[in-house]
Amino acid sequence: MKILIINGPNLNLLGSREPGTYGSQTFEDYFQNLEKKFPQVELASYQSNIEGEIIDRLHAADKEFDGIVLNAAAYTHTSVGIGDAVKAISKPVVEVHISNTSAREEFRHRSFIAPNAKGVILGFGLQSYELAVLSFTEA
Ligand code: DQA
Repeated sequence: MKILIINGPNLNLLGSREPGTYGSQTFEDYFQNLEKKFPQVELASYQSNIEGEIIDRLHAADKEFDGIVLNAAAYTHTSVGIGDAVKAISKPVVEVHISNTSAREEFRHRSFIAPNAKGVILGFGLQSYELAVLSFTEA
C-alpha cells in the first residue's frame, strides 16, 4: 500500500512553530518514526506553502498512491481549489489536523476539505497522522 502525506503552509516549521499548539518535534523526525511503525506501507511525504503546488501534487498522487493524508493547514479554511481537487481525484483523502481546530478560533471551524474527504482526524497532536494511516491499513 502506498500512502502520501501532504502538508500545507507553515508545517515545514513544525518543531519551532508555536510549540504549545503544535509540539516541539520536527515533521522529519516524526516521519522517520512513522515509517518504522508501518514497515508494510510505502509512505511518502510532501510539503508546500503554495496552494497550486498542493493541487498539482493531489492530481499527480491520484495515479501514484492508494491513499492520501492531507493537512492543508490554513488552506483548509480558505481554499475552494484544494477542496475541489480532493473532490476531483478518485483516491481517498483523510484530512488531518494536529490541533483540535474545533476548539480554536471560529475561522478554523470551517473546512473546504472535509465534505470531500473520506474522514477527518483532528486534535491528537502529530499522532493524528498515525491515526490517519491506520484508517487505511486497518480498513
Ligand atoms: C492545522 C490547523 C490550522 O488551522 C492551522 O492553520 C495550521 C495547522 C493543524 O494541523 O492543527 O497551520 O492544520
